[in-house]
Amino acid sequence: MSPQPVRVALLGAGTVGAAVARRLDDRAQRYAAQLGRPLELVGVAVRDASRDRPGVDPSLLTTDAEALVDRADVVVEVMGGLEPARALIERAMRRGAHVVTANKQLIAQQGDELHALADECGVGLDYEAAVMAAVPVLAVVRESLAGDRITAISGIVNGSTNFVLDMVARRGVPFQDAVRQAGELGYLEADPTEDLEGLDAAAKIVILARTAWGRPVTLADVQRTGINGLTDEDFAHAAAAGQVIKLVASAWCSGSGEDCRVELAVRPVGLPQDDPLAQAREGANVLIIEAESAGRLRLHGAGAGGEETASAVLGDVLRAARRR
Ligand code: NAP
Ligand code: HSE
Repeated sequence: MSPQPVRVALLGAGTVGAAVARRLDDRAQRYAAQLGRPLELVGVAVRDASRDRPGVDPSLLTTDAEALVDRADVVVEVMGGLEPARALIERAMRRGAHVVTANKQLIAQQGDELHALADECGVGLDYEAAVMAAVPVLAVVRESLAGDRITAISGIVNGSTNFVLDMVARRGVPFQDAVRQAGELGYLEADPTEDLEGLDAAAKIVILARTAWGRPVTLADVQRTGINGLTDEDFAHAAAAGQVIKLVASAWCSGSGEDCRVELAVRPVGLPQDDPLAQAREGANVLIIEAESAGRLRLHGAGAGGEETASAVLGDVLRAARRR
């Protein structure tokens, strides 16, 4: 008898979802060998099922996301937004499906409730792709450094604004043209103000801080300034001072011992050219983690893009499939 497939439902076939669907198809044999049974993509929920999506089997497209969730073992939410994403995730959990999501706003704002429901239902909730896309930072903070004590985390955690700042500074591209290019590359959120006003970076630093210190910090705790207010003069002054402007997200523990207070900030900072964060080009992200025993660790890689984000989503899908 051939083993039962693990049924995967995909909610969304945009920049990230379409890349996940293509990889589930072209790596099917390898994944089946890794798991000992196949991963079967049973459907892809979208708003417009009549639109052609290169590499995605049109017969899998549906606008009935609830019915799709009801016939899956693993539900992958890559539609974005708070609703109906949250309701569909809750439905999936209550029906015993493991959940994988790339939705940083949902996890930053409602992650505690969703974790509680996942525990109650005995299912997994994984979201490595929600923070720094291809760069595996949550696994490092949650697992690899579990026996250490993290004291500070800082870095560039938003790919689109890094792309914009880099294009303006190194290539002299006008700000709005660079924003348009970031959209064409699939780096921007459905609402680009989330990137430009630092909300996307704020959600990521909240998730990192909660993972590192287990404290109930929220978006309201982040001192936040985006890059929308930067002027040509700001870029000229930075260049004249030998600096580059980067949108830096930081989290640190002030005070000592286990009672430390977690502080969070997202803001544009002028950095010297040889600073490790200044080296991040185009859509790259960099994170520096400082820990008592490990010292200073630096993680660097693609922070946005469909194919790159799919890497992290697929890692979580395999992890969820192994749980069954
Ligand atoms: P996107 O290109 O806008 O795609 C969203 C997809 O979800 C589309 O296929 C859309 O359907 C579908 N969708 C949206 N609302 C829906 C609804 N109510 N019912 C059914 N389908 C719905 O977004 P994306 O860039 O792939 O991002 C998806 C998620 O991944 C977001 O949470 C984002 O923050 C996160 N993420 C993105 C990146 C990146 O680089 N893009 C990286 C890391 C994490 P239609 O196609 O029919 O409109
Ligand atoms: N809009 C996000 C960014 C996508 O620019 O980093 C990756 O999370």
